[in-house]
Amino acid sequence: MRIGFIQTKPVFGHVEGNVERAVKMIHRCDADLIVLPELFNTGYLFTSREEVRELSETVPKGRTTEALREVAAERNVHIVAGLIERSRRKYYNAAVLVSPDGSVETYRKIHLFHEEKLWFDPGDRPFTVYDIGSCRVGIMICFDWFFPESMRILALKGADVVAHCANLVMPFCQDAMITRCLENRLYAVTANRVGSEKRGGKFCLYTGRSQITGPQANLLYRAGAGEEEIGTAAIDVAAVRDKRLNAHNVLLDDRRIEFYSDLTAPGAGAGDA
Ligand code: ACM
Repeated sequence: MRIGFIQTKPVFGHVEGNVERAVKMIHRCDADLIVLPELFNTGYLFTSREEVRELSETVPKGRTTEALREVAAERNVHIVAGLIERSRRKYYNAAVLVSPDGSVETYRKIHLFHEEKLWFDPGDRPFTVYDIGSCRVGIMICFDWFFPESMRILALKGADVVAHCANLVMPFCQDAMITRCLENRLYAVTANRVGSEKRGGKFCLYTGRSQITGPQANLLYRAGAGEEEIGTAAIDVAAVRDKRLNAHNVLLDDRRIEFYSDLTAPGAGAGDA
């Protein structure tokens, strides 16, 4: 199978134009699973919760999800894309997984970054893996990468590919994802945006360089830093399901979880060692 990304340059608040442009790019993307950036339809640099509310949509009935369902059915592809989900007066930085049969799953970003903590409600559901037939897909949104637990949990739940919707502003993630894929033996598609935003006295420059990362610490595709771009690569799902590293080591089985309880103990991180 082939996996791919659409690296876009959204205009803040121009949902119709942003979606229309992304749909055109989806039509040109030769992949079975296509990943779009975080908040691809709205832009990222919010200045109030009111703006977030105005640009939020319900799922699956909102106009962005409807447009994605239409193109997923037309092209017979699965799409993962970031948007603001409104649900019971809560606003989530979310990603939808849209299938060609019209079904929709939603992931709500668990690790909110910087001022996102002011605008969004934190994700309230566990990391989940979805079997789309050709592979099993886990979803992360941007800053989730900073917490290795995110991808480890997706690996433990059987993900072959991590669909990683991003609006990266720091330069570290792309290289870090090489290690994340190596240590979990899976593929990842990091779909980042390009361009910049200046609003309310604030400025964000997005780092582009969307990429498809392989399980052998290998880059299958890396986009440029400044332009819209489509990237795709062929993957071998059987290769990541076999977690044997050599004759004596099996990646996930060799974990020594009896020594890991500090990771989840109350007060972990307080530094009382
Ligand atoms: C980020 O989580 N958008 C940096």
